[in-house]
Amino acid sequence: METILVTGAAGFIGSYTCKALLEQGYQVVGIDDLNDYYDPALKEARLQWLRRYDQFLFHKIDFRDLVTTQGIFQQYQFERICHLGARAGVRASVEDPLIYEATNIRGTLNLLELARQYSIRYFVLASTSSVYGGNTKLPFAETDPVDHPVSPYAATKKAAEILAYTYHHLYQIHCIILRFFTVYGPWGRPDMALFKFTQAILNDQPIQVYNFGKQRRDFTYIDDIVAGVVAALHSDYAYEIINLGNSNPEQLIDFITAIEQATGKTARQQLIEAQPGDVVETYADITKAKQLLKFQPTTNLVQGIEQFVRWYRDYYHV
Ligand SMILES: NC(=O)c1ccc[n+]([C@@H]2O[C@H](COP(=O)([O-])OP(=O)(O)OC[C@H]3O[C@@H](n4cnc5c(N)ncnc54)[C@H](O)[C@@H]3O)[C@@H](O)[C@H]2O)c1
Repeated sequence: METILVTGAAGFIGSYTCKALLEQGYQVVGIDDLNDYYDPALKEARLQWLRRYDQFLFHKIDFRDLVTTQGIFQQYQFERICHLGARAGVRASVEDPLIYEATNIRGTLNLLELARQYSIRYFVLASTSSVYGGNTKLPFAETDPVDHPVSPYAATKKAAEILAYTYHHLYQIHCIILRFFTVYGPWGRPDMALFKFTQAILNDQPIQVYNFGKQRRDFTYIDDIVAGVVAALHSDYAYEIINLGNSNPEQLIDFITAIEQATGKTARQQLIEAQPGDVVETYADITKAKQLLKFQPTTNLVQGIEQFVRWYRDYYHV
């Protein structure tokens, strides 16, 4: 049985990825520092359903610390690393860039270095559509320039991509870099719009709509993303950067309408300016993902939001 290390295992995408791998019969070692960037109780709850699987082993570890992280490489023989752990908020990165640098750059370097030391040949790295910055050529393709990130988050993710390339070049580690586009779904992150809007709408509170609702996002359902991550983990490409997105951007206003429909309530909207670090539009060109990973997103926004709202009501008893 292959053993896969998943970092950020208690996170939104990490927990789903662990579950998919466990269901395919892998042994999964999950690590996470369970930090309080958002409610750690939600991370614990995700871990609870993973603990139902005997082949799931969890360690509370901060991968910024090389020595502690090395301990699990001594304990297990990993075939692959799926590095999803990160600080992942655009706006929070403007407030506290140093923790983004330490986690997303140094933390990734620690894991690449351990992959080298322990001869682990396969490394999948989570990156983001944010690396495309304010690019205006749409859709975003992997060959587009990504030299002008507009938030510390995006800059640290770009730096992590570059380090992955270097480790591939020097040590022949097979690296697949996945650029995710706005991932959403049940168990999603409390700092993201879908969670915040649903919470506010159900509590009859106003929602703040950035950039006067003119933003467009390529919202991508969690199950579609995880199918892409698992396909990347099964593949044998030497080095690739691949977009994973829905390739169907939606205007924020339509996104809010879908939440209103799913909740049966009307949003009280406060239209405000764009926030520092925000980009106006994201839109994934997924030609490469289709070719290399047979990636084919299947969940549309209305269905996905219904799933999220159902989960939210159930989980928070509203
Ligand atoms: N959700 C999205 O829309 C989205 C979009 C683009 C890219 N991504 C990337 O996908 C990955 C997963 O994102 P997510 O949405 O699941 O976020 P998340 O915050 O839910 O998950 C990340 C997990 O990493 C853990 N973590 C952070 N620092 C750590 C450290 N030093 N040591 C150990 N664990 C640590 C956190 O506790 C968290 O559980 C991240 O790399 C993120 O940058 C996410």
